[in-house]
Amino acid sequence: VNGVRVAVVGATGAVGREIVRLLEERAFPLDDLVLVASARSEGRQLAFRGEELSVRALADGWHEGIDVALVSAGAAVSREILPQAAAAGMLGVDNSPEFRMDPAVPLVIPEINAHDLAWHRGIVANPNCTAITALVPLGPLHRSFGLRFLVTSSYQSASGSGMKGVRELAEQVEKLRGDEESLLHPDPGALPGGEVFPRTLAYNVVPVCASPDPNGSGFTTEELKMGDEARKILGIPNLECAATAVRVPVVAGHGVSAYARFDAPISADAAREALREAPGMRLVDDLESGAFPTPLDAAGIDEVLVGRIRQPAGDGHALLFFSVADNLRKGAALNAVQIAEHLVA
Ligand SMILES: NC(=O)c1ccc[n+]([C@@H]2O[C@H](COP(=O)([O-])OP(=O)(O)OC[C@H]3O[C@@H](n4cnc5c(N)ncnc54)[C@H](OP(=O)(O)O)[C@@H]3O)[C@@H](O)[C@H]2O)c1
Repeated sequence: VNGVRVAVVGATGAVGREIVRLLEERAFPLDDLVLVASARSEGRQLAFRGEELSVRALADGWHEGIDVALVSAGAAVSREILPQAAAAGMLGVDNSPEFRMDPAVPLVIPEINAHDLAWHRGIVANPNCTAITALVPLGPLHRSFGLRFLVTSSYQSASGSGMKGVRELAEQVEKLRGDEESLLHPDPGALPGGEVFPRTLAYNVVPVCASPDPNGSGFTTEELKMGDEARKILGIPNLECAATAVRVPVVAGHGVSAYARFDAPISADAAREALREAPGMRLVDDLESGAFPTPLDAAGIDEVLVGRIRQPAGDGHALLFFSVADNLRKGAALNAVQIAEHLVA
C-alpha cells in the first residue's frame, strides 16, 4: 500500500515514542509521518528513518491530509479530537480509555478479535495494557475450553503512568540510595513522595493504580477495565471477573497472575498444547529448569511471555498462569500499530 499519511498524536510520550520506533522497525507502509504533541513540545526534533522530524503542536485542522492517526495523548485529548476527525474520514487508533466501552467502537487485539475491525466507523480502541497481557493467552484458552470465571492480580510498572511515572520512581530510588537500612524502621514523614503515585513506589508496592470506581464498588477504575474489556474482546457478556491492580517499582513490563475457570475440563498440559503455537506469545514455562517470565525478560520485546502454568488441586476446570508483556509495546504501541497495519492492508 502506498500513499498512506500517518500522524502520531502524543509523539513525545512514553507510548508515542514507542509507536514512532515501531513504525520504523516494522517498515510500516507510509508516505508521510506527522508528529503531534502539546505546545510544550513544538519544534522538538525526533528521528525517523534517518531524518529529523519536527514535532507540531496540536491545533485545529491537525487531521487534514491525514489518513490514519495513532493517538496516545490522554483521554481528554482523544475525546476532543477523534470524533470530529473520524467524521471527516480519518481513521483513528486510540490508546486512551475514552472509547473502549463505546458499543460503536471496536476494541481489538489483532491476534484475538481482528474480525471486529470490519465494523469500525473511523475509531478503533486499543485495549488496556494489563488486559492485553492477560488476554493474549486467555483468547486461545477460551476458544478451546470456554472461559467462565477470571481472577487476576497485576504487577504494573511505573511506565504505565507514562514518562513522568518513570522519572518519579527514579528520583525516589536516588533519594533512598545508601539509606536502605533506614527502611527497616521507616519514618513515614521522611519517605520520598511524588505526584504520580499515591505512595512511595521505590522499595514498595502500591495496591492502587488509577482512581477509585466512582460508583463506590471498592475497586479501582484500572481493576474494572480487566473484566469490562475481557467481556467485550472475547465476546463473553456474562464472564465473571475480579481484578486487583498493584503498582510495583519496575520500569517497564506488566505482569499478571491469572486464575481462570473454564466450561470444559482443562489440564496444565492441555493448556500448554493450546498455547504452544498461539500468535503473539511465547511459552516460558519450565519451573524445574528455571524457565519463567519476568518484566525484565519482556521489556523491549514484542511477545507476551507466559509461564507458571499449573492447576489447583481438586479442580479440573481451573488453571493458573503468570504472563508478562511490555506495557509500552504489546500493551500499547505495538498493538496499536498492528491494528493500523490491518486497517491499511
Ligand atoms: N504507559 C502505558 O503503559 C500506556 C498503556 C496503554 C495506554 N496508555 C495511554 O496512552 C496515553 C499516553 O500515555 P503515556 O504513558 O505515553 O503518557 P506520557 O508519557 O505522559 O505522554 C503523553 C503524550 O501526550 C501529549 N499530550 C498531553 N497533553 C496534550 C495536549 N493537550 N495536546 C496534545 N498533546 C498532548 C504529550 O505531549 P508533551 O510531551 O508535549 O507534553 C505526550 O506526547 C494515555 O491515554 C494512556 O492512557 C498508556
